Parts: sequence; C-alpha cells; structure tokens
Amino acid sequence: AQAPDPAITELQPWMQYLGDGVDARPYGSPSRFESHVIRRNVEWLTADPVSSVNFTPLHELDGIITPNGLCFERHHAGIAEVDPSAHRLMINGLVDKPLVFTMQDLMRFPRENRVYFLECAANSGMEWAGAQLNGCQYTHGMIHNVQYTGIPLRLLLEEAGVKTNGKWIMPEGADASAMTRSIPIEKAMDDCLVAFKMNGEALRPEQGYPVRLVVPGWEGNMWIKWLRRIEVGDQPWHHREETSKYTDLLDNGIARRFTWEMDAKSVITSPSPQAPILHSRGPTVLTGVAWSGRGTIPRVDVTLDGGKNWHEARISGPSFDKSMHRFYFEFDWDGTPLLLQSRAHDSTGYVQPTKNALRDVRGENSIYHNNGIQTWLVDERGEAENVEIS
Ligand code: MTE
Ligand code: CO
Repeated sequence: AQAPDPAITELQPWMQYLGDGVDARPYGSPSRFESHVIRRNVEWLTADPVSSVNFTPLHELDGIITPNGLCFERHHAGIAEVDPSAHRLMINGLVDKPLVFTMQDLMRFPRENRVYFLECAANSGMEWAGAQLNGCQYTHGMIHNVQYTGIPLRLLLEEAGVKTNGKWIMPEGADASAMTRSIPIEKAMDDCLVAFKMNGEALRPEQGYPVRLVVPGWEGNMWIKWLRRIEVGDQPWHHREETSKYTDLLDNGIARRFTWEMDAKSVITSPSPQAPILHSRGPTVLTGVAWSGRGTIPRVDVTLDGGKNWHEARISGPSFDKSMHRFYFEFDWDGTPLLLQSRAHDSTGYVQPTKNALRDVRGENSIYHNNGIQTWLVDERGEAENVEIS
C-alpha cells in the first residue's frame, strides 16, 4: 500500500486557528508563499541603483496584465515622490494659449481606458553579442503591460491650440533627470495618453505618479514619467536621450535615429531558466508572451527542436493593439532535450527575425531594439539554459 499523504490525513495548522479579520489587510499584498515573485536587478549592469533598471518576473506571470507591483522600473535619477497637490502640467511653446493644469483640472477632461505594453528600447540589449543572462526576467523583463486610464493628449493640445508650425512636442519629467524626448505631432495627436491610473489604481510612484505620458508601441524612454511640461516646437530638440542614447550605431559608423516603434517580439516564459520543468515525461504546458508596436499578434509559432519543426501556438486572452498577447503550446514531453523558440507574426505581416538575421543588418555596436528569436535549451532533468544556435 502507498504511504498516506499527510497533506490529506493530517490537520493542517491553518485549519486550526481563526484567521485574520477583514480589517487586517486594508490594501492587500500577495501570499507570503509568493515572496520569491519580485522585480530583480542585475547588479553589475549599472554603477548605482538610482540610475538603473530592474526586471519584471515574466516567468512567474500569466495572462496579459502585469501587476502594478511587478512592473519593471527604469529610472535615470531615482523615484520622484511627487505631491499631486503641488504638481502642475504646463503646455507651452508654439501654442495659441499656454496652459497650466492642476491634477484637478486634468480630472475634468474625458478619459479613455486602453491596454498597452511599455518596452524599454534596451530590453534584450545584453544579448546582442551572444547568450548572456539566464532567465527571461533578465533577457526580456524590461517590459510591462498595463491598462491605463488617461486623457487623450490630443484633447489637451487642442485646448492650448497648436500653431500650424507646431510639428513636434517635447514632454519633460519632474524628476531630477528632467527626462525629455522629441515626439512628432502626428503621434501626439494620434493615440498618446496622459495617464493617471494603471490597472484601475493610481500610478505607482515608480511608474510616474501622479501622471505619465503613454506613447503606444514606441520605445519606453519616450513614456515620460512624472510629466510636468509639454513644449510644442517646429523641429526635434536633439537632446541626450535621442543622440548619445537611444540611437543604434551600425557597422558602417552611421547611427539609426528616431527608431521609435518596437518591432514584433516574443519569448517563452515557461519552461525557461527560472521556470524549469518540474515533472517527468508526459503532458507539458509551454507558455509565453508576444507583442508588436505596430498592431496585434495574430500568430505565434513555437519549435521544440531548434527550428526543424514549427507548430502554431494557441493565443488565449484579449488581443489588443500594441498590447501583450499570451500564447500556449501543450505537448507530450518525451524526456529528451529540447531547443525551445517562439516566433511572433504581427498584424502587418512582419515576422520576428533570428538574432543572426538582425546582426547581419545592424551589426553589434548597439544595444537597442534587439527583437531576435530567443532559444532555451532544456536538458533531460527539465532544467533550462539561455543558448544560441546558428
Ligand atoms: N521618465 C522620467 N521622467 N525619468 C526617467 O528616468 N525613464 C524612461 C521612461 N520615462 C524615465 C522616464 C525609460 S528609459 C523607460 S524604459 C521607461 O520610462 C520605464 O518606465 P517604467 O519605470 O514604468 O518601467
Ligand atoms: Co528605457
């Protein structure tokens, strides 16, 4: 006879006490058994945590929404703790009527709710020269996907009245880095939001409380946090973040500039180095995420054998424009090693390239806009490792 399972036969401690009452946790937190599910930093990557990045634990998540407390953070001068009653948003420059809004003023404009991914242009940047970091949290975790509540930027710009020669905007942050970027007026008028809620609650301080700019599909650096000012101009400003940073130096010494859109990309989040297969052969669930700055993801292919055979994955959950998509592929693992890859197709017909195809065109000088196909090698024990195959 089998040994009895104490999880069934024994009275567990939590069956023998009265638990916390309803007032014990007025703003709830995850179970203490989930305490390993956290944003993590790669210490050698930056000199100081104040100008640094941590990473979303993609391997622990499911569905398409990133919980607010797990959204990766990228700060150039740390987290600004802004008092909303002392916060103002100014619109100036080439406008008929320069304006200053309080938070109360902003609350009187019509709002919209939209789900978008934010991906740092440097996501996967450490992988340009070869497989380096062991886990999708580190290779792909500079991304989050959130439902924003915000005011269409177009409404605020129309309130100020953009002059006919107003062709660019320059949003500026209220943090000590006073982050600025140039954005063409067409994008500003199209789908940008001035957002104050994420997943229903106020923006977290890490994400730009009380207001941030949402620039759908475009590189995360342009999504100015702690937004305090928007200047309208007739040409780009050529500031630091669009000259020495966030440009892509090619092999021939010429840099690609204004590479705003994030190309279609995907990654298998489980199995992956931080999410090994914990069972023996038999039914196995493979899952991952895919996204594109140009539209939706109608299709994701996966391979278990390094690209010899491709299978169409199953997409489950809402398919929103410029939002993360969740895919699954269920298969019977025979216990032999696997070379896992996923390949996203976006609604424009674009197909995610291999890392080598990207290197052929872009060289290896730049760290930005690496959307190449990721490979995980899974061994007989179910443990996974970051590798590249040629
Ligand atoms: N805005 C301000 N004001 N200060 C910053 O340091 N970092 C930018 C952008 N907006 C930054 C900012 C960068 S590089 C990225 S990738 C995103 O914010 C990160 O957004 P997150 O911290 O919500 O993940
Ligand atoms: Co960034």
